[in-house]
Amino acid sequence: MKAIPHVSAVKQAVDEAHQRFVHVQDGKNADYIPYLAKVPSTLFGIAVVTVDGTVLEVGDTRYDFAIESISKVFNMALALEDFGPAELRQKIGANPTGEPFNSVMAIELHRGKPLNPCVNAGAMATVSLVKASSADERWNRIHDNMSVFAGRTLSLNEEVYKSEATTNQHNRGIAWLLASYGYMYSDPIEACDVYTKGCSVNITAADLATMGATLAAGGINPVTKKRVIAEANAPKILAEITMNGLYDSTGDWQYRVGLPGKSGVGGGILAVVPGVLAIGTFAPPLDIFGNSVRGQLAAEYLSNQLKLNLFAA
Ligand code: DON
Repeated sequence: MKAIPHVSAVKQAVDEAHQRFVHVQDGKNADYIPYLAKVPSTLFGIAVVTVDGTVLEVGDTRYDFAIESISKVFNMALALEDFGPAELRQKIGANPTGEPFNSVMAIELHRGKPLNPCVNAGAMATVSLVKASSADERWNRIHDNMSVFAGRTLSLNEEVYKSEATTNQHNRGIAWLLASYGYMYSDPIEACDVYTKGCSVNITAADLATMGATLAAGGINPVTKKRVIAEANAPKILAEITMNGLYDSTGDWQYRVGLPGKSGVGGGILAVVPGVLAIGTFAPPLDIFGNSVRGQLAAEYLSNQLKLNLFAA
């Protein structure tokens, strides 16, 4: 396992990454969810939380933004707690689809199996799997779980939720398609709606780093010191996002950064160094795959400067 780098080295690297990339203008805010198109594109924050609870940050690290697809990581955590890794692998899967995150074709190619919890199909199936006897209970469990990971009560961004819920016909179609193949474990529209609400939770880059540090620390939130998930489940989640966290550009991410990571179209990126620390970044403009441009640059810079790449000796 890698050692925790010295606090001053982390702070210096975080500051340098911010300075280097703050003026990069490549990429474009997501606009298929109307709210996201209006978020100021210049915002940029980088936060690091170590497994011993040290928090280092620079820039817009306390600005609330929509967690979007990064919620899939924490939905997976909850389903793992409820059912364990073997059942999750059988009911959802763990392999890349090779297709965009909202692909219908991927579902058809695999006779309905969603393949992994990081694509929309697998994320909605994962939400449907979470133990709950009503839509409210499903939402409360998903919301509470994300809050415990962050160490504070996260708010729902009602405007994002409304914006997504009125434009998510494609996801509703996916939910029904999964149901037709027997891969939905609750009412499909309930699962789609709770998934959409989960995507609309507000987080900050500092929250993201704390949530990731909880995974890096084997399931204990290093800031609150509370156990959030079983130690045995953390590596399953990190394995999953290592393979599928940045969708069909995950291979490029591993080549550049070499860490389990997860992106969201709200502009967040999470990167985790097991046993060491997590990085949370926020910068809204995205590349063509839906991943924050400056977030990827910052993670790559930190990985190189602090020698965090898991595939490097
Ligand atoms: O389901 C959707 O389309 C969004 N709520 C989340 C997608 C997302 O963040 C994909 N990320 N890169």
